[in-house]
Amino acid sequence: MISLANSAARRSLRTVSQVRTLSSGIDIDVDHYSSGWNIDDIGEFTAKTGKYQIKTFNKISEKGLARFNPEKFEIMGSDWDSTNANAILLRSHKLQESEIDVSVRAIARCGAGTNNVPVARCSELGIPVFNTPGANANAVKELVLCGMLLGSRRIVDGVNHMKDLGAQGLAKERVEKDKSMFGGQEIKGKTLAVIGLGHIGASTARDAAALGMDIVGYDPGLSIDSALKLPNEIDLTDSIASAVANADYISINIPYIKGENGTHGIIGKNVISSFKPNAVLLNFARGELVDSEAMKEFLDNGDGRYVSDFPDDLLWDHKNAVILPHLGASTEEAEDAAAAMAADTISDYLQTGTIVNSVNFPAVSLPARPDGAIRMSVINKNQPGVLASITDVFAKAKLNIVQQINQSRGDVAYNVLDIDPTANHEAISMKDLQKELTMTDGVLSSRVVFGTPGCGYARNIDGQYWV
Ligand SMILES: NC(=O)c1ccc[n+]([C@@H]2O[C@H](COP(=O)([O-])OP(=O)(O)OC[C@H]3O[C@@H](n4cnc5c(N)ncnc54)[C@H](O)[C@@H]3O)[C@@H](O)[C@H]2O)c1
Repeated sequence: MISLANSAARRSLRTVSQVRTLSSGIDIDVDHYSSGWNIDDIGEFTAKTGKYQIKTFNKISEKGLARFNPEKFEIMGSDWDSTNANAILLRSHKLQESEIDVSVRAIARCGAGTNNVPVARCSELGIPVFNTPGANANAVKELVLCGMLLGSRRIVDGVNHMKDLGAQGLAKERVEKDKSMFGGQEIKGKTLAVIGLGHIGASTARDAAALGMDIVGYDPGLSIDSALKLPNEIDLTDSIASAVANADYISINIPYIKGENGTHGIIGKNVISSFKPNAVLLNFARGELVDSEAMKEFLDNGDGRYVSDFPDDLLWDHKNAVILPHLGASTEEAEDAAAAMAADTISDYLQTGTIVNSVNFPAVSLPARPDGAIRMSVINKNQPGVLASITDVFAKAKLNIVQQINQSRGDVAYNVLDIDPTANHEAISMKDLQKELTMTDGVLSSRVVFGTPGCGYARNIDGQYWV
């Protein structure tokens, strides 16, 4: 549960009121969002600085954090004892619901997976969770290319042999005689089949083509972005079996999905029986995608190779396998890129309302805010009638909605409304309007998007108003 009691103890009714004059010349009482939350101990209240407070868990790359504009954002570590975080940035920390303060508007994971974040609960609370798809793609792609070379020549065996000879003081004497044990083939002119043409697969295909390889690809869900990265010459097939049939190298780059119609053991006996006898399988996606027993039979009976980034109880010491300790994304650059992407995503969402790379909210790209308009975002349960009730609040206040976006995903809906306050010639209390809006049945939260950083967020938690 959210730590409401803790938050409640620190808040009381606000006393400060401010009036802002819009370019239209109309006075709008905006005290509610211009100076933030109402608390007794205002001295401790960090939002008074007018900055968004970003709470980080784990060590996040400095290069990534540098993407936050220091004039608008303040970064705090996990030891920061506060109930005012506006967003959370994390890597592997297993986030507890009690760590998601009532003031948190968004959570971003620097990485692709989000199973250390309680995503389903965040959806119920109306909090978008973001990830960083493709941020580590270059790191993985480089290791796939390296894997191709490791599978082409007995490089690992050769290195180990040199260590043995060195230990015996025989390296110089024996090296020329023994090198014939470690011969191999070149990759230029060979055929690479890429299964899964997403962030990693598409760039692997492109760079392997640049190395002189012929490319065959299979991906029934190919996206436009990935298609644009593909090399000019690529044969797209309609099944894994036909993609691998004439391939010298096969790279799998698809997600691991459990259960019926999932991808567990997708490279099984049937697919492997279509391999050329000396094919090299590159698995930098997930160990569970490959049926180890079927692969062992293939490696035992031919001159094929298996290069994998994942532990395998059956194949770890097979003479035709090279197993790496999950090194795919382990580069400084990948960590920087993931943190930078997460920072940009949070920064955009907090400052403009834009949603990209969310795992539980719809993607929403927004037009520019019209001059003088107030932009409000509203998150609500995706139920019939709620949208009408939201627009009704503005209609009753005689506020004209000049631009509106409504998108939904699963049980949650996201609205962005640009309001022209000039249609109403009476002073408007945004504070009252936001309260009415937020407490509308089915609404989870509302936000004045271009207000003072860190302010203007209100929530309806089980019928209780939180600002
Ligand atoms: N070794 C590592 O350290 C490491 C690091 C990052 C990612 N990965 C793995 O690599 C995988 C791919 O990463 P990505 O960033 O390219 O993901 P991505 O989502 O960009 O691409 C995956 C692609 O696979 C396609 N696909 C899904 N099911 C398929 C199927 N049955 N047959 C063919 N294509 C299918 C999708 O349409 C999509 O285009 C990830 O799922 C992850 O498991 C490994």
